[in-house]
Amino acid sequence: MMMRMRHRERNADSPPEEMYSLEGGLPTAPDLPGRVVVASSADDVIDKLAAELVLHAETCIREFGDFHLALSGGSTPEPLYRRLMYDPDYRKLPWRRTHLWIVDERCVPRDDERSNYRMIHETIVEHADIPREQVHPIPAEEKGADLAYEKELRDTLGWRERGQDRLDYVLLGMGDDGHTASLFPRTEPLRERERLVRLNFAERAEPHERITMTFPMINTARFISVLVTGEKKASMLKRVAAGDATEEELPIRGVRPLEGQLVWYLDSAACGESLPPDGATP
Ligand code: 6PG
Repeated sequence: MMMRMRHRERNADSPPEEMYSLEGGLPTAPDLPGRVVVASSADDVIDKLAAELVLHAETCIREFGDFHLALSGGSTPEPLYRRLMYDPDYRKLPWRRTHLWIVDERCVPRDDERSNYRMIHETIVEHADIPREQVHPIPAEEKGADLAYEKELRDTLGWRERGQDRLDYVLLGMGDDGHTASLFPRTEPLRERERLVRLNFAERAEPHERITMTFPMINTARFISVLVTGEKKASMLKRVAAGDATEEELPIRGVRPLEGQLVWYLDSAACGESLPPDGATP
């Protein structure tokens, strides 16, 4: 599918916002903060994300010697994780120099169907040459897991040069209620300003108890990507783009990198504009 790229200048202090839209004007990229990448299918947008992820990993390793990557769970990123393992273009991600963190975890045993780590372990850890000590699951079954994970983050990142003691890449998703990580609408950890990891309670999601990175952790990352695919997310994405909701109502609005970059990766279905299966514009 041919892509056409538009650049839109915002103001002198903010970087140019790049938007991609399909030839023929479909779909229109929603007006979201940061850079927005739209492709006709989930597979195509995963392709773009994976290519940029590998570049980031290589750049960080050249500069700092290692790469700190935090991944989300849920169903959306599963095909991305598989792709990273079987596609020769992306297999070259230097896992041996990568530290793998988990953005949020459900408080269930590690082998539970609902465990984010179980999914990430099955799709990535089992197939990548990542040293065991560089894999950092959240000990979500233990009391005080939030404090333990925060300590592990501080201790590990603390080895880096001052100023570089932050995550290099955080991959987020978005729930159809506008939550991200396990930061749910109108929950107290949304207002956290100090702690990097918190226990949260999701009234409307199962399981209710979650351990999650907070905005102070997420927003200091060098690069934040938000992957949203499928028509189920279209109406929420539209609300987020409308820009009139607070982060209390739609937590994803709280993703505001302090110095880093924010990039949204969307397929046309999430933009509310499904294309015919062959990708041809009607
Ligand atoms: C989780 C996630 C969460 C996820 C969204 C979207 O544990 O559920 O980390 O934040 O990204 O809920 O989930 P889906 O991709 O399943 O829609």
